[in-house]
Amino acid sequence: MVVKNIAVLFSGSGSNLQAILEKVHGKIFKGIKINVALLICNNPDAKGIERAKKFGLDTVVINHKDYASREEFDKAVVDEINKYSIDLTILAGFMRILTPIFTDNIKAINLHPSILPLFKGAHAITDSYHSDMQIGGVSVHWVSSELDAGEIIAQKTFARKTKTLQEWEKKIHKIEHKLLPKTIIKILTKDKNA
Ligand code: GRF
Repeated sequence: MVVKNIAVLFSGSGSNLQAILEKVHGKIFKGIKINVALLICNNPDAKGIERAKKFGLDTVVINHKDYASREEFDKAVVDEINKYSIDLTILAGFMRILTPIFTDNIKAINLHPSILPLFKGAHAITDSYHSDMQIGGVSVHWVSSELDAGEIIAQKTFARKTKTLQEWEKKIHKIEHKLLPKTIIKILTKDKNA
């Protein structure tokens, strides 16, 4: 059986990591088994580390605070990923700006909580909520050297029926938990080079 290995990078709560572990990890799609082979987190206190433990998975903590520059941190992350035979790296709430040390060397996708190219950056949920847009949404895109600007792979939108920021955020996460696993499966069962 063909096995494809993914690495998941996260920084905080890890609800999207959990969705990947529940819906993708160890499962077979079109005869291809997708395996979460590596977890990396830059925050030693991230809740996602505990979530992963419940699935029997350990997380490699690479704390950005231990590195003098973004490049040195990225090199440590790239070196870790390269220890394994990783077919695709997933940024699932990985809240670090990446340099070309990472983006030139790692084939990765990123989850972003807005309809890109609108509302790039770390405050996409609140920025989109406070805008006059009548729709919100979620994007998955290839990671490139420009922040939140790589080619868009998948998007899902919703209508602004929700009244509170909390409801808006909840709706985004609900969509994320479906869209990211679905996109990973699609890429790994379609792209022969993935
Ligand atoms: C998600 O909204 C993701 O789009 C953004 O960070 C959040 C991570 O949530 N980049 P979680 O850690 O997966 O719960």
